[in-house]
Amino acid sequence: MLKKYNRTLITSALPYANGPIHIGHLAGVYVPSDIYTRYLRLKGEEVIHVCGSDEHGVPITLKAKKEGITPQQVVDRYHDLNKKAFADFGIAFDIYSRTSNKIHHETASEFFKTLYDKGIFEEHTTEQFFDPQANQFLADRYITGTCPHCNNERAYGDQCEACGTSLNATDLINPKSAITGNTPQLKETKHWYLPLNKDEDFFKQWILTDHKDWKTNVYGQCKSWIDMGLQPRAVSRDLDWGVPVPVEGAEGKVLYVWFDAPIGYISATKELTPDWEKYWKSEDTRMIHFIGKDNIVFHCIIFPSMLKAEGSYILPENVPANEFLNLENDKISTSRNWAVWLHEYLEDFPQKQDVLRYVLTANAPEAKDNDFTWKDFQARNNNELVGVYGNFINRTIVLTHKYFEGKVPELNELNQQDREALFEIANLKLEVEKNIETFHFKEALRSFMALARVGNKYLAETEPWKLIKTDENKVKTILNICLQISANLAILSEPFIPFSSKSLKEMLNLSKATWSDAGNTNLLAVGHLLGEGKLLFAKIEDAEVEAQIQKLLDTKKNNELSASKAEPSKPNISFEEFQKMDIRIGKILEAEKLPKTKKLLKLLVDTGIDKRTVVSGIAEYFKPEEIIGKQVSILVNLAPRDIKGIQSQGMILMAENADGELVFVSPAKAVNNGSAIS
Ligand code: 2FM
Ligand code: ZN
Repeated sequence: MLKKYNRTLITSALPYANGPIHIGHLAGVYVPSDIYTRYLRLKGEEVIHVCGSDEHGVPITLKAKKEGITPQQVVDRYHDLNKKAFADFGIAFDIYSRTSNKIHHETASEFFKTLYDKGIFEEHTTEQFFDPQANQFLADRYITGTCPHCNNERAYGDQCEACGTSLNATDLINPKSAITGNTPQLKETKHWYLPLNKDEDFFKQWILTDHKDWKTNVYGQCKSWIDMGLQPRAVSRDLDWGVPVPVEGAEGKVLYVWFDAPIGYISATKELTPDWEKYWKSEDTRMIHFIGKDNIVFHCIIFPSMLKAEGSYILPENVPANEFLNLENDKISTSRNWAVWLHEYLEDFPQKQDVLRYVLTANAPEAKDNDFTWKDFQARNNNELVGVYGNFINRTIVLTHKYFEGKVPELNELNQQDREALFEIANLKLEVEKNIETFHFKEALRSFMALARVGNKYLAETEPWKLIKTDENKVKTILNICLQISANLAILSEPFIPFSSKSLKEMLNLSKATWSDAGNTNLLAVGHLLGEGKLLFAKIEDAEVEAQIQKLLDTKKNNELSASKAEPSKPNISFEEFQKMDIRIGKILEAEKLPKTKKLLKLLVDTGIDKRTVVSGIAEYFKPEEIIGKQVSILVNLAPRDIKGIQSQGMILMAENADGELVFVSPAKAVNNGSAIS
């Protein structure tokens, strides 16, 4: 029997505050959770949606080290950036908190202490990797090595991102410290473990039997974890960034980030309302976790095990995790800058939040990984939002203003075609509703768009602009029906594309509509005055998406550049040998192509010492007139050589770029000719 709930607590995975939000985060977690929250609110249900920044964990401290700043500076930067981007994008959080807050440290600390006092944890002393040079234990991502499952050479101490396997640092082949690159040593250390093994029977019942309704991907991952046998899991780390372990003898130890982060949902609720316990501790609250697939085990097994051990909390009712979104056929990656960043999208496409929301929902990776491409983004906007939905609304509003002074005309006699169009209003509302409630947002969007298509087709087929001269009564009926469809679309679209829903409600002068009004074929009364019409969506031009594609091509090139392996170093030379080379900055005064050669330019260079001729093999890369006046590096004491009958006195130093083209080694600022490079 279905339980009766009085309220819903929606949580969205706390994104790490070590980088900006990208479309993968949005498609996986925040767009679906936002659709669901808006839907429940429109239905008038009691709901809160909590989120915030996950500000602990090794990736943050590593980034701080790399940039020479503190972890707090890293998280401050990204917390503010992401909080603003979410708000500008219309994600309907009730609170966007952060785990470096005092209230979170207190809540997480207290939670640990409760479990500790109840004797839940096991204490184990084990050998873990230690970097003597850095004088620290190498938790999680502080260690890299080769994955024993797929041979990926860049696996981390906690996970291999190539094959998705969760790892222990000691599983890695050829482990290296991410701080110094050294091979680590093993050293004993004590940690606290959550005995997941003791909960195995509970999870078999709670997930495998009672929650067969969970999404196949979620259920499947849980099943394989449970089938493999659950193991005790360490919930502390030897690190100095995080929530300190609040017991004696735990100096230099903090809570494992995956222990404290989900408690962040509780702290955020506490921060939001003094009445927080009714969301976390009443059986008539339904908790839903929206997450990406890499978070499944933490939300379905580890966090529930913690909540259950604490004893006074409810467990999640559903965990609708999505798979991953790729970008132009490649995995989204923060470190490789392969992403569409939300804050940049909002700058490049101001007022187009709904277009991205629409495309990410239409293409949502609900059951399998999916791909985002800029061409698809453009096509969906131009063909669907502009061509179908926008076109229908625009024509309906314009014609009503033109023929009936913007007032809803009456419904006269109905024929079969009219009745069929009206039938779809209630029918498709039910479809949208059913699909949202079962977390099939892609299908729900399709049902909403199906109503727009019905309206667009009905208008195109009935052609009121032709009938107006001969049968005004019929035109009144047609536009009444089109307006009822439009009003329904204004409500049904709100969870998916709230910005245009708001504009449409203004155009229709339909301010107070709620979800229960949808499905009604008489939403706008005869004589109701419409607001002013305006375009809901605008076409996206080729140049706009080409600029985005170019940005990605530039990223690819930069990545190739930094990945291209440098030649191994030549054998060492002594300082005296180095001093024998006399390299100066000189200016090219004249340049001309050497006749009958492809590669050679004859240059006259002012070396500061003299003006001399140098023959250089750079003709394929430079036109003579382009390089006159350029300051370059020249080895002036290279023994003169005869090249094609000309004595070349020195050598211009060149480097090669990723495309194999030669570039000059020039001073960053102008210097005197003759300046020595030393
Ligand atoms: O995968 C991530 O981005 C994590 N920061 C998600 C944490 S969700 C929750 F537990 F806080
Ligand atoms: Zn692997």
